[in-house]
Amino acid sequence: MQTASKPFYVTTPIYYVNAEPHIGHAYTTIIADTLARFHRLMGTETFFQTGTDEHGEKVVEAANARKLPVREYVDQISGKFRATWDALNISYDNFIRTTDSSHIKVVQAILHKVQEQGDIYFSEYAGHYCYGCERFVLERELVDGKCPDHLVKPTFVKEGNYFFRMSRYQDWLIDHIHRHPEFIRPERYRNEVLSFLKEPLDDLCISRPKARVPWGIPLPFDDNYVTYVWFDALINYLSGLGYPDSPNFAKFWPGCQHLIAKDILKPHGIYWPTMLKAAGLPLYRHLNVHGYWQMGAGKMSKSLGNVVEPLDLVNRYGLDQVRYFFLREMVYGLDAAFSQEALIGRINADLANDLGNLYSRSLAMVLKYRQGQVPAPGSLEPQDQAIQELAQAVWQDYLAFLPALEFHKALMRLWELIGEINRYIVQSEPWQLHKEQKQNRLNTVLYTIVEALRWVAVLLQPIMPTSAAKMLTQLGIPAEPNKGQSLATLAWGGLQPGTTLNRGAALFPRLEVQEAATAAAAGPPPATAPSKPEIDLAAFQQLDLRIGTIIRAERIAKSDKLIKLVVDLGEPRQVVAGIAEYYQPDDLLGKQVLVVVNLKPAKLMGVESHGMLLAAKSAERLVLVSPETPVVPGAPVA
Ligand code: MSP
Repeated sequence: MQTASKPFYVTTPIYYVNAEPHIGHAYTTIIADTLARFHRLMGTETFFQTGTDEHGEKVVEAANARKLPVREYVDQISGKFRATWDALNISYDNFIRTTDSSHIKVVQAILHKVQEQGDIYFSEYAGHYCYGCERFVLERELVDGKCPDHLVKPTFVKEGNYFFRMSRYQDWLIDHIHRHPEFIRPERYRNEVLSFLKEPLDDLCISRPKARVPWGIPLPFDDNYVTYVWFDALINYLSGLGYPDSPNFAKFWPGCQHLIAKDILKPHGIYWPTMLKAAGLPLYRHLNVHGYWQMGAGKMSKSLGNVVEPLDLVNRYGLDQVRYFFLREMVYGLDAAFSQEALIGRINADLANDLGNLYSRSLAMVLKYRQGQVPAPGSLEPQDQAIQELAQAVWQDYLAFLPALEFHKALMRLWELIGEINRYIVQSEPWQLHKEQKQNRLNTVLYTIVEALRWVAVLLQPIMPTSAAKMLTQLGIPAEPNKGQSLATLAWGGLQPGTTLNRGAALFPRLEVQEAATAAAAGPPPATAPSKPEIDLAAFQQLDLRIGTIIRAERIAKSDKLIKLVVDLGEPRQVVAGIAEYYQPDDLLGKQVLVVVNLKPAKLMGVESHGMLLAAKSAERLVLVSPETPVVPGAPVA
């Protein structure tokens, strides 16, 4: 398997200090942390940077609102971000602040370079200024005369300013994006930038008069002006590496990958590459753009008053539980709905039930039948071989999915292995082998189980670092401080026979219904459906209910609600379900569902549906009904 590769540099946006950290910020930061840990565990030299964006009008306004000197205010909020990331065990290598003197020097040096290059000029400008966006917005960007992001009417402002000749680089940028299809990913955001670039690109206003905005980095060539906050902020990605002279800059800049949400696609997809080009610098490697966590109808944001604080969430549910949920629930690039109900559902089903129970049950068997010592395996039977082969295949897919930001797929694949280990236990019946004194066979089965669990633990390290370390400790593998088990060199047989296991506390305690109910009560109470008239057993028995596995899922064009599925019910079956508002097609793959199979076929939007999925309506959500543990596709339900 692949070993050390080119150095990897990952960044989060630097967050504005006009608001406190919320789970939207935590999501991007946790993704960055996962990627940083992944690359370190692959043996790649890694640098991970996050930080705070501290200049601009909004910050001054926020400080004034709290009656604090700006400096004191930015120190306070920046400190909160840092403390939050520390509490969330974020393994950043550098926390940058745009008020750091080293950053200020680099911004001024870049401004000099771009000016020398002839790409900065002075001009009068009059236009619609959105204070929320801190930029002039174009007439065509407004919706009903208002900024669509901040829902306020922009102010008409006329002033002399400095401009960056961004328009000059339009054709070059289009060409670069075409030649490097992975420059902006996923593809929908690359297309968004390209479609934006179909319109003539304006030059970028990069200054603000000091008289109006005193809190900013002075322009090196005109002291009456400060630098526009985006021109200042984007440069953090260079200054944090010690540009221009630090060895870190030479080492890490070529492998730079930015993580952002779609709100800041334009500055990162257009301003930033053109700024780099004008400054004579190579471009970043990938811009990885994700969607929003939605709360009810809208994006989570302070102005909408629907913010969830990351520390509250983590204190309540556990850090790794929240990390798992973030990565499993959101398809990178698409929006996802955040709800505590969904979080509790994942914790109980995937973590407490599938993984946690498997771990404790397996360790308990080794304790009971082999006094806690890993036995040496005997000769292998096909089902043992199958587990090894699946572990290998899952590992390879996992290593491909994670750096491609397909976190949900990586986890779905890993949970296939977990499901298969569970099935292997049921089929091999270690308790029976023990009863019948089939010692050799029992040794092989127990070894196969705990070795497969070691693979699960090793693979989970970047996503759930604390729990993975606990699992490894329980498997008798000593934790090396600040270092985990390499992901690149997994080989079957790594767990040494004779190793003593340490059974610890439950990894993921199941959330009590009471707790789940209280948390769910945060959302609107579920409407109680009126009861239907009683039926007799014979009427119920007319229903043919079966469990199936979704093997294909795609949206039906022109419908917001419908998804066309192929469900494996022992044989493939096409079913159309009205679940597109609640599930992404990708998310459904591999999911087991309850299907009414003897419903007369019907056509929905012209597409034939042969059966119906059952789902629960709960609060605002629709939740598909699935079996507690995986069963053979086609299994009847009675
Ligand atoms: N300061 C600028 C970024 C400058 S980078 C050179 C900024 N700051 S921000 O505080 O508004 O952070 C925006 C980022 O926070 C998003 O791009 C995303 O990474 C994260 N998120 C904020 N709200 C979010 C959601 N509701 N959902 C997902 N991510 C969210 O823009």
